[in-house]
Amino acid sequence: MDQRKHRSILIALILLVACKPACFSQERGTSASLKEALEGKFYIGTALNQFQISGRDTASLAVVKKHFNAIVAENCMKSRIIQPREGEFNFLPADRFVAWGEEHGMFINGHTLIWHSQAPNWFFTDRSGNPVSAEVLIRRMKNHIFSVVGRYKGRVHSWDVVNEAILDDGSYRKNKFYEIIGEEYIALAFEFARQADPEAELYYNDYSMANPAKRAAVAALVTKLQRRGIKIDGIGMQGHVGLKYPSLDEFEKSIIAFAELGVKVMITELDITVLPQPRGTGGADISSNFKYRQELDPYAAGLPDSIARASTERYLSFFNLFLKHQDKISRVTLWGVNDGYSWRNNWPVRGRTDYPLLFDRNNRPKAAVDSLIAK
Ligand code: G3I
Repeated sequence: MDQRKHRSILIALILLVACKPACFSQERGTSASLKEALEGKFYIGTALNQFQISGRDTASLAVVKKHFNAIVAENCMKSRIIQPREGEFNFLPADRFVAWGEEHGMFINGHTLIWHSQAPNWFFTDRSGNPVSAEVLIRRMKNHIFSVVGRYKGRVHSWDVVNEAILDDGSYRKNKFYEIIGEEYIALAFEFARQADPEAELYYNDYSMANPAKRAAVAALVTKLQRRGIKIDGIGMQGHVGLKYPSLDEFEKSIIAFAELGVKVMITELDITVLPQPRGTGGADISSNFKYRQELDPYAAGLPDSIARASTERYLSFFNLFLKHQDKISRVTLWGVNDGYSWRNNWPVRGRTDYPLLFDRNNRPKAAVDSLIAK
């Protein structure tokens, strides 16, 4: 080897060693993602809002493409939005949502077919505003489910068929479906969904699922459906939680109890509020609203490090639990991409500044994301 060649090899080696840490971290930064870190364990999903579905919020969409492999529409498939008047469907946002999911290879969950909230009034009343008969309401439910599920047959992989039908004390929620049809509306909804798309997975979805009374009631409901041979594939535990509630032990008991029924368990709407919660708002009952008071909004100017650390620890404790039960859990979905758009900023008090998700207002990953990726 001549001297010139020897010298250039030496320089190349020196350059390689000198740039290695930088090159390495850059590589990690572009290839390491939540979905890669959790691959083979469970899907990691997020909810898309109107700005993302319409393509306006490209920065959040980049985060979704990089870190998530499952999506759900935060609002656009709810009955008030998708069928605002009887027989008049507004499919455009849902069509876009499904097309985007397909284009990016996402597991697509449809949310939600039968829910007391965000159901349009026409569903339950006749032209004079009087309540319709059970027969009419069942026909409307069937038309709604056939139209929506039928349109996305073979494209939407799963549906939250019935949402929030059980109260925290374990009794049935006395919503209009229940008042007019009775508890049978739940079985009917699952039957209609199965008929509309026999291949789609069908779920029951609810909040405060760590609550023992609710756990028992949901397990009893699912058992009843199963004994009648009605197809139900999974239970969604929404996961609107706080730094201190619920207890991880109770949450774990519910994961185990639901898995023992032989269905998939999913965490479907995870977010961790860091804000003080007025009494009785541990779940996600959007009819609870409280007047804004400064003391309920302590971090409007920024999040103190101690609270950011508490949030990271809480996220990691939950994910440790999910990883421990990865044989039972098929999907963990965050209820939104970044803190800025989270519904938590407006519930149960409008106009607060919360920090409940895994990405900050500038779509930067929080410490919990780095830790999960490094695991
Ligand atoms: O889009 C309209 C906008 O045009 C209008 O100017 C504005 C005025 O208030 O309202 C906007 O609609 C709001 C919509 O979110 C989109 O931001 C509705 O008022 C508001 O009620 C709606 O809230 C949603 C809520 O469900 C009720 O549907 C939240 O975004 C959504 O995060 C929340 O999600 C629910 C799950 O579906 C079920 N589990 C609980 C969870 C949290 O409540």
